[in-house]
Amino acid sequence: MITPPPGIAPHGGQLINRIATPSERAEFEAQGERLPRVRLDERAASDLVMIAIGGFSPLKGFMEQDDYERVVEEMYLTSGLPWAVPVTLSVTEEIAEPLKEGGWVRLDDPEGNFMGVLELTQKYRYNKAHEAVNVYRTDDEKHPGVKVVYEQGPINLAGPIWLLERRPHPLFPKYQIDPALSRQYFQDKGWKTVVGFQTRNPIHRAHEYIQKCALEVVDGLFLHPLVGATKEDDIPADVRMRCYEIMMERYFPQDRVILAINPSAMRYAGPREAIFHALIRKNYGCTHFIVGRDHAGVGDYYGTYDAQYIFDEFKPEELGIVPMKFEHAFYCTRTQQMATTKTSPSAKEERIHLSGTKVRELLRQGQLPPPEFSRPEVAQELIRAMRG
Ligand code: ADX
Repeated sequence: MITPPPGIAPHGGQLINRIATPSERAEFEAQGERLPRVRLDERAASDLVMIAIGGFSPLKGFMEQDDYERVVEEMYLTSGLPWAVPVTLSVTEEIAEPLKEGGWVRLDDPEGNFMGVLELTQKYRYNKAHEAVNVYRTDDEKHPGVKVVYEQGPINLAGPIWLLERRPHPLFPKYQIDPALSRQYFQDKGWKTVVGFQTRNPIHRAHEYIQKCALEVVDGLFLHPLVGATKEDDIPADVRMRCYEIMMERYFPQDRVILAINPSAMRYAGPREAIFHALIRKNYGCTHFIVGRDHAGVGDYYGTYDAQYIFDEFKPEELGIVPMKFEHAFYCTRTQQMATTKTSPSAKEERIHLSGTKVRELLRQGQLPPPEFSRPEVAQELIRAMRG
C-alpha cells in the first residue's frame, strides 16, 4: 500500500499498489517460465494496470464471485463499498480447464509478453445476459459493451494480481500520471478541490465550457482522457491527445490544469460507468467529477441525464466524490455565448450543437465545423488525422 498524502481518501481508504518490487519481480520472472499462461486482451491488460496502480482501489485483483454478483446485483462490493462495473478476467473453458485454484498464473499482454501474475483463488461461471441487463441496461448485442461481454469467455478467473513493472506508455509517457503522482501534484499545487473530467471524444467547445464552468468553483482541473480500448469508430487516442495538447497550449491556464491519461477501457455502460468513472477519479485524488449529458453513453440506450440520476442512489459519503452535473451545452446564438439548457433562453434553432456523426461527415469532406462548435486548430488537427 502507498500511504496517501493528505487530501481526499482513495476509495476504501488506502491506495492500492500491486506493482512488484524489484525482488518480487525477479522472483516472478524466475517462476514465469513454469507457470501456466493466460494472454490478456486489451481490456484485461488495461484493467491489470489500473488495479496495480491503484486506479481501481480497493480492488487488488480480478473479482471473485461474491463481489462480482453483488456488484452486478446491487452496485456494492461485499465490503459494503459502492462499485458499479464488474472487473473480471473472462476466459474460454479450454483456457480455464487446466488452471488450478490455489495456483499461480502468468499473465501475458496481448502481444505475448510477460506482464503480471494472478494468484488464482477462484474460477467461476457467470450469467452474461444477467450482467448485460443489470450493468448495461440492455441485452442488445449491438451495444458495444454488451458485445464484449457476449464475445468473451464464460469463465471468470479471480484473485489478487501483481504487475511486473510499470512501463512508460509507448505513446504518451509525459502524460502517464498515476494516482500516487497525481495526488502528489495536487498537494504540491496546494489544490484542495480538484475536478476530474472523463472523455473519449475529441474536445469540442461544449466540453471546454463545462470544464471551465467547473474550474470556476474549484482549485484545479484534471483533464483525464481515456486512452484504453474504445469502439472502432471512436477517434483514436493519439489524435484526441494532440487536440488536448493544442488546447493546453492555447486555451487553458497552465497553472490550473493537469492533462493526464486514463489507461482504462471504455465500457459504454452509461449510468453505471459514470459511477465507475467517478470512483476512478477519486482514486486519482479528485474531489469533484464532471457528469454531463449522456455520460459514457452510446446510441439511444440511456436517457440524457440517467448518468446523473444514478448518483442519487448512493449517499454522498459512500461515494466520497462530488458529481458536478451539467445540462446539455451548446453555443447560443441569441446570447452569443456558450450556455446550457439551464442558462439559455434560446429556442432550438438558436443552439449550435452538432452530432458526432455530423462532425465526422464534415471532417471527412475536409470542412471545418463552425468555430462555435470546435476550436479551429482542433478541427484542423482532426481533418489532418482523417486524411491519414
Ligand atoms: S464519454 O463517453 O467519455 O462520456 P464524451 O467524451 O463525449 O464521452 O464526454 C465527456 C464528458 O462531457 C461527459 O461527462 C459528457 O456527459 C460530457 N458532455 C459531452 N458533450 C456534452 C454537451 N454537449 N453538453 C454537456 N455535457 C457534455
